Formats: sequence, structure tokens, C-alpha cells
Amino acid sequence: MSKYEQIFEKNRQWVEDKKAENPDFFEHLSKGQDPDFLYIGCSDSRVTAEEIMGLAPGDVFVHRNIANVISNTDLNTMSVIEFAVGHLDVKHIIICGHYYCGGVKAAMQSKDLGLLNPWLRNIRDVYRLHKEELAAIADEHTRYERLIELNVEEQCINVIKTAVVQRTFLNKGYPTVHGWVFDVRSGRLIDLDLNFEEKLHDIQSIYNLGTTAD
Ligand code: CO
Repeated sequence: MSKYEQIFEKNRQWVEDKKAENPDFFEHLSKGQDPDFLYIGCSDSRVTAEEIMGLAPGDVFVHRNIANVISNTDLNTMSVIEFAVGHLDVKHIIICGHYYCGGVKAAMQSKDLGLLNPWLRNIRDVYRLHKEELAAIADEHTRYERLIELNVEEQCINVIKTAVVQRTFLNKGYPTVHGWVFDVRSGRLIDLDLNFEEKLHDIQSIYNLGTTAD
């Protein structure tokens, strides 16, 4: 059986397993979704959102793109955030980068990558913002890992810049934005422990789209 054909066989088995555990599993799913989490991560095939978090269908709203970039002109990502926060009422937004990210690696190289150029420029912008810190790291792999972390941090800030996140947090006290890195080599999720409220406050001095800033 080809890898392609195996997918349908595995799906059939999965349906049976789920029904054996809970006969109403799919009936329940069909009633709607009420996830607590919005996860925005890289499209990399090794970083499977639900599996690494141990979450089940219905638990997490997922958006993935190359190098987990939040661009304010990207209608796709902006719609995901608007819908997840404004309609699904998620409590947490997670931006998850990962070590060994090919997108970040590509952005570190001086190479014309065609259509990928404007997308990767978002990461080059992160590099420029943190040029001094990165230039001080002599080891290239350490610099690469640090850029992956800084990219997560800057993308979290881009999420916090959105009106729906600012407004909802000020009105309801959530969602909180978290920055994580998945270590492909160990399988571990690392919380970068970003201070969300401090970042929100900093952002609001320039990007205030909610209220209550001073
Ligand atoms: Co990646």
C-alpha cells in the first residue's frame, strides 16, 4: 500500500478507535467548537500542533505558515486572530517557533529566494531590530537559535498590536499571548515566559487601538 493509500486506511482505524472510546465522539464534535487556545506555528512537518501539546480535536484553533510570521497585511493570519478572539473567545494565544526552522535559516542567508523574499523579509526585519544582540553572538548556531526566539517574541508583539486583542484583553482580562519554542531535537516545548501585560503596555504607547492606555 502506498503512503497515500495508507492515509485512508489509518483514518478508518482512527474513526473506529475514537468510537470505541466514546460512541458519541463525532456526534459531539459536530455540535460546534469551543477551543481555549489559538496556536500559531510554523508549517514545518515536524511541528504538529495538536500532537506536541497532547490536545484533541476541538481543543485548539490552529494557524500555520512559514516561520510563524504575523504580518499585518496578511489577511489570512489577521482573519484567524479576529475570528479566534472575537468569535471563539479563546483565552490564550500561543506563537510557537521551533529550533531548526528552515524559514529562519533562509532569512539569515544572502540569497534571492523569489516569491519567498517578501515573506522572509519579516524575519530579516526581526534581525535588524536585534542586530546588536545578534552580532555579538559569535557562534552561528547559537545566533540562529536566538533569532528563532526573537522572531517568536516579535511575532507576539505583532499579535498584541491588533485591535481585537487589545480591546478584548482590556474588556475581559484575556486573551494572554504566549511565546514558545519547540525543540525538535528533544521534543520539548519551551515557554519563553514573555511578560504579556508589560508588552501590551509598551505597545499601547504607540499602537493603542483599545482604550485605557496612559
Ligand atoms: Co519552521
